[in-house]
Amino acid sequence: LRRSSTVAPSSSYVLRRGFSSESAPERKVAILGAAGGIGQPLSLLMKLNPLVSKLALYDIAGTPGVAADVSHINTRSEVTGYMGDDQLKQALEGSDVVVIPAGVPRKPGMTRDDLFNINAGIVKSLCAAIGKYCPNALVTMISNPVNSTVPIAAEVLKGLGVYDEKKLLGVTTLDVVRAKTFYAGKAKVNVAEVNVPVVGGHAGITILPLFSQASPRANLSDEDIKALTKRTQDGGTEVVEAKAGKGSATLSMAYAGAIFADACLKGLNGVPDVVECSFVQSTVTELPFFASKVRLGKNGVEEVLGLGSLSDFEQQGLEALKPELKSSIEKGIKIPRRNL
Ligand code: NAD
Ligand code: LMR
Repeated sequence: LRRSSTVAPSSSYVLRRGFSSESAPERKVAILGAAGGIGQPLSLLMKLNPLVSKLALYDIAGTPGVAADVSHINTRSEVTGYMGDDQLKQALEGSDVVVIPAGVPRKPGMTRDDLFNINAGIVKSLCAAIGKYCPNALVTMISNPVNSTVPIAAEVLKGLGVYDEKKLLGVTTLDVVRAKTFYAGKAKVNVAEVNVPVVGGHAGITILPLFSQASPRANLSDEDIKALTKRTQDGGTEVVEAKAGKGSATLSMAYAGAIFADACLKGLNGVPDVVECSFVQSTVTELPFFASKVRLGKNGVEEVLGLGSLSDFEQQGLEALKPELKSSIEKGIKIPRRNL
């Protein structure tokens, strides 16, 4: 059996050497915020991905150094660094996937919503450039608060007449990564085999892991499930507090962002049955955006999958998260409408 790089399991490319890229089409990935805490390790991981042929690293400062460093790695992609507004057009043109980790991270005592004012402006200007220079690219949004930055991006792209709901995806993969890790630890199962959908949004109680659907199945008590749910919801805060003022999750986020970008590329390349959780435009609930499993394909989000059956505890969690998620979405929608 001939192994092609397009059928590699999602995280294995980091470990493989001497991969073949002959069957993978040319794909350009742009990272906006590439010199930051997430941006740098994410640039490294994307440089290791054989599905990438061009890697554009953009930031307001520091990208020449990051690009020179990463470009020496002997893998397929050609790396270019771009710095400042004048070079944003070049960074974006021809991109298939744009990953956005640009913005300010939390410090202890802050909520993700406390980042709204500064990050809304950053996301708005970057999305305006995306709408202009690579309107067909998949946009994967890491910048917080994701529950608001995704609606902001949608409004900006709508204002430019180029919004396609299949191509805008909020990255909630870190919640899934955490849920898998914490579940495997508690259930004493092989973490590599664990699957747990996480739905809702990406902040506090809006993060709703569905442990009733976790596999492999384990006999955990209600108390265990409650504790796992809380730890997943507070995972970001756990890291913010441990970093004690030096920012939030960067390494685990880079891993999660790389897994998600890899899934997007696989979908674009026609690999069947690529499913990840993501915060997208949705009719799964009455809210206009919602995270759930989505099937990724040649056009981005090919199908938004439903929630499946929920336990009573999860059903209560779902109802409890809706008011907060609704108001974060509305806050995001209002910003570009006022200023475009
Ligand atoms: P950081 O401060 O280390 O890096 C941010 C980078 O963005 C910096 O290099 C900065 O120069 C750059 N930047 C600022 N304005 C820019 C602009 N207009 N254009 C391009 N680049 C710009 O922060 P970080 O730790 O990398 O976190 C980045 C963001 O990701 C934060 O908002 C954080 O809350 C969020 N985050 C999200 C998740 C998630 O699960 N979605 C997880 C972790 C962090
Ligand atoms: C995370 O979940 O780690 C990120 O959203 C960063 C944060 O502020 O918690």
